[in-house]
Amino acid sequence: MLAEKYPDEVKKILAKYPPEQKRSAVMPLLYLAQREGGYITKGAMEDIAKTLDITSTEVSEIVGFYTLYHDEKAGKYRMQVCTDLPCALRGADKFLEELCGNLGIQVGETTADGLVTVEAVMCLAGCDKAPMFQLQSANGIEYHENMSVDKTMELVEALRKAK
Ligand code: FES
Repeated sequence: MLAEKYPDEVKKILAKYPPEQKRSAVMPLLYLAQREGGYITKGAMEDIAKTLDITSTEVSEIVGFYTLYHDEKAGKYRMQVCTDLPCALRGADKFLEELCGNLGIQVGETTADGLVTVEAVMCLAGCDKAPMFQLQSANGIEYHENMSVDKTMELVEALRKAK
């Protein structure tokens, strides 16, 4: 239970919203639930739903909609490549396919060493700088734009060495 694990933080988050609007606390509570393991369990979603008097479906819809929330464990780095139409027109699909080929994985999978999970996502607001991706980790988010497969593999090697 989130409230048992982080009582002060949960109280602080809920105090920001009037009781009749407490459902608005869903995003910060999800962020809190995700902080430790990098993803949100089904149990945590049910817990948040109960706390906010909303349905667990409503909570899971939010998790599914935003690329910054996750419902599955991933590698140390989550590389989210935009394959939406404007990026696709600049070669994002080919980039993603070749990148995954180089890493020896399929889209949605994690490299054997647990370092990188590659995902395809919708618009990340860098449409004119494709191929582009956001790289999520416990340290935050980095944006990489105008990328090539070679440049991305160099980045992965650097992350591997820094591990
Ligand atoms: S369509 Fe890819 S960043 Fe907008």
